[in-house]
Amino acid sequence: MKKIIVGQSGGPTAVINSSVAGVYKKAKELGVETVYGMVYGIEGFLNENIIDLDEYLSTDENLELLKRTPSAFLGSCRYKLPKIEDAKDVYEKIFKILDKYEIDALFYIGGNDSMDTIKMLSDYAKSNNKKQVFIGIPKTIDNDLPITDHCPGYGSSAKYIATSLKEIIRDNASFGVKKPTVCIVEIMGRHAGWLTAAAELSKDDTCEGVDAIYLPEIPFDINKFIKNVEKLSKEKKSVVIAVSEGIADKDGKFICEYGSSDKKLDAFGHKQLSGCAKTLADLVAEKTGLKTRAIEFSTLQRAATHLASLTDINEAFNCGARGVEAANEGKTGMMVIMERKQTRKYEIEYNLYDIHSIANVEKKVPREWICTKHNKLKDPYLKYVKPLIEGELIPIYKNGLPVHLIRK
Ligand code: F6P
Repeated sequence: MKKIIVGQSGGPTAVINSSVAGVYKKAKELGVETVYGMVYGIEGFLNENIIDLDEYLSTDENLELLKRTPSAFLGSCRYKLPKIEDAKDVYEKIFKILDKYEIDALFYIGGNDSMDTIKMLSDYAKSNNKKQVFIGIPKTIDNDLPITDHCPGYGSSAKYIATSLKEIIRDNASFGVKKPTVCIVEIMGRHAGWLTAAAELSKDDTCEGVDAIYLPEIPFDINKFIKNVEKLSKEKKSVVIAVSEGIADKDGKFICEYGSSDKKLDAFGHKQLSGCAKTLADLVAEKTGLKTRAIEFSTLQRAATHLASLTDINEAFNCGARGVEAANEGKTGMMVIMERKQTRKYEIEYNLYDIHSIANVEKKVPREWICTKHNKLKDPYLKYVKPLIEGELIPIYKNGLPVHLIRK
């Protein structure tokens, strides 16, 4: 391979840039001349918004800075490629640009929707005898990609969520009032509850943990929820509850839509889910007269590179590097997956898997890991998640603030 290109797609994570660093570093080790970056994903690529990454990443200092930089350094997009038979011109344009820049391999760092791009491009290349190869690098805080044990981005968000909940629980418990404040915290993750499940990590030697966790895997019953809050508020001086942005009633109506039904759709047809904590906090206040507070972690939970997990940073880097090795071996239409070895010490093996089994598929939290009686997660979940949040990479500070690498 002489020239390659890498792009970032979908919602950013705290470690998505580590995968770019992994792609760049491994490519240079293998003697690749030019590593291009597509600015704003495949959407930017279609406008030839392309940069040479040597400009930013040729020093070890900048590679280290990139690992400590939140969001998508290259810029991201939510763009769905049309069906090949409906829009041959789009594919012809993409391959014309690939040929113009003499690109041998394209790497796309993204979640299940973004992996659709790798599927479409590798399918088109195959049926049109194109020489370029296409490899997916996993990424999503939602942790809902199938086949892989977990996804880069998840461990860091889980660490942020658990840490922030520990702090919120301390704050909420400060006042020795007779009636507790009910604090409801909304966590991202759409239709899969992996991120909200991480609220279970807030319980440790120095924290009592959250009082209840509600995942989208289980239909949400508002009356049962209010009864549970009433019960908890009689027993406790502080009540903190974690809810997924994607909780929905038994008919599939999102709880956030009870507050405002006008939810916008993104390019993949997903509703923008936001506001269920506020809806529930208002309802609890109305029904019980208790003081309530709603907190939405929103983008903070995916941008908190200052609290990223070192395990996650390293794995994101390794996924990028493994992707480049795979392309160099001539593989295409595949995504890098992480397989957990059955060893006592946590260890990961990096392998490749057919993109057709991955694109557009969502992996949910196993039902047997969820305790609906106490609204908690069971031990197998804790065993699964704990290694993923281990370790820290201290930010580089200047004038008391973390320094980031940014595009000019
Ligand atoms: O895809 C990751 C994700 O963070 C989801 O958990 C969330 O629903 C969505 O992105 C939010 O996307 P946006 O910030 O584009 O509204």
